[in-house]
Amino acid sequence: MAKFSTVFVCRQCGWKSNKWVGRCSGCDEWDSMTEEKCESAFKHIRPEYDIESPICISDIKPVSKLRTHTYIEEFDRILGGGIVAGSAVLIGGTPGIGKSTLLLQVCQKFSEQDCLSLYVTGEESTAQIKLRADRLSVTSNNIFLVAENNLNVILEHIKKIKPKLVIVDSVQAVFKPELESSPGTVSQVRQCANELIQISKKTESSVFLVGHVTKEGMIAGPKVLEHLVDTVLYFEGEKFMSFRILRAVKNRFGPTNEIGIFEMCQNGLREVKDPSEIFLSRTHNLSSGSVIISCMEGTRAILVEVQALVTRSSFGMPGRKVSGVDHNRVTMILAVLEKRTGLLLGGYDVFVNVVGGVKIEEPAADLAIAIAIVSSFKDIAIPGNTIIIGELGLGGEVRGVSQFDSRIKEAARLGFENAIIPKDNTKDTSQIKSLNMIEVSSLAEATDKIC
Ligand code: TYD
Ligand code: MG
Repeated sequence: MAKFSTVFVCRQCGWKSNKWVGRCSGCDEWDSMTEEKCESAFKHIRPEYDIESPICISDIKPVSKLRTHTYIEEFDRILGGGIVAGSAVLIGGTPGIGKSTLLLQVCQKFSEQDCLSLYVTGEESTAQIKLRADRLSVTSNNIFLVAENNLNVILEHIKKIKPKLVIVDSVQAVFKPELESSPGTVSQVRQCANELIQISKKTESSVFLVGHVTKEGMIAGPKVLEHLVDTVLYFEGEKFMSFRILRAVKNRFGPTNEIGIFEMCQNGLREVKDPSEIFLSRTHNLSSGSVIISCMEGTRAILVEVQALVTRSSFGMPGRKVSGVDHNRVTMILAVLEKRTGLLLGGYDVFVNVVGGVKIEEPAADLAIAIAIVSSFKDIAIPGNTIIIGELGLGGEVRGVSQFDSRIKEAARLGFENAIIPKDNTKDTSQIKSLNMIEVSSLAEATDKIC
């Protein structure tokens, strides 16, 4: 009988300590230590791997069919053109966002191409999955369901059924009985994920691991989990909105920062192929403080509405509340507005919001945010047929932006007539004739021209 002693392991970096500490010495993270059984006790239960000799790179046979398309375009695109055989994908998201729904729909698409899928559910019963399947009209003989938490049994099922697609919902619910720690702990999650990935590489089946997220929105469990898998996807969305955004944050076989947009409907997730149209509500009749910007999400340009509201502050401390954009960026824009255009907002509360629950991280939205604030302050509406693009420097200068062409083309496609653009980008505007380009080189010049 092995003798167990307790160790404390950091959830973030795997650093170990004999006693509990409030702050990890490995990565300086607070409250990240979790109690586990000592690792020396696990030595004898390492899986046995076949020893393979190294092979010459030119002798390696290419996989006959590397990618399988799901024909869910939004999903295929963020994976880089379909699911790669033998790849491991981790998909995280808050409860109820639609992870299980999406993966069941992927199983259906796989089965339509005569590929077997195995859906392992560790949290719901097979009857519950069947209920969801009925709602999604998933009725295929190529999809196998099993409610199982024991990793050894799951591996046996994979070996027996030889599916092309394995879904493990969720990786935190699976456990390896030989490990003493309970399901969901760092060593359980790491070991189970590792063995599932090993078997998928060997059998060339693709494995999707559903991961819980912590209250900060990160995938729970060890950070190393994200290193083990080939692709990490996050499924995001506002609880009270039906739109869902699937975002690739790591992808060994495709682009990152690409997003796929879905809408949760009565019978499952529907792709949203023209996102600009859903994020723009009333383009031709904007109130003061609203502007339209053209921002890039991966390789795609999306037009979204940014709103600002400036109201007189009732307290000594003016409030700044933002949603969908970086708080620090808005603070910087307010400082530039004050210094370079003389707009004094010290006695005003400022609210900035991106419509539709989109998050804008790029600096190309700076000028638009600044104009929205000025527009609300002066109570002058910006025409709804105008888009604004440009990065702001601390000197109040408007700087050029990357992927300018795609942004402008999207605006032209949707029938916009005016574009406020940085002077630095004007050399790229020759092909687009339908847009009236208003070039600006500084914030003061932009506010003079527009409001
Ligand atoms: P689910 O896939 O169970 O979420 P997760 O696995 O991420 O926890 O989705 C659950 C939510 O989606 C639930 O609130 C019901 C809703 N839903 C629909 O609106 N339409 C549908 O067709 C389905 C299957 C679920
Ligand atoms: Mg689920």
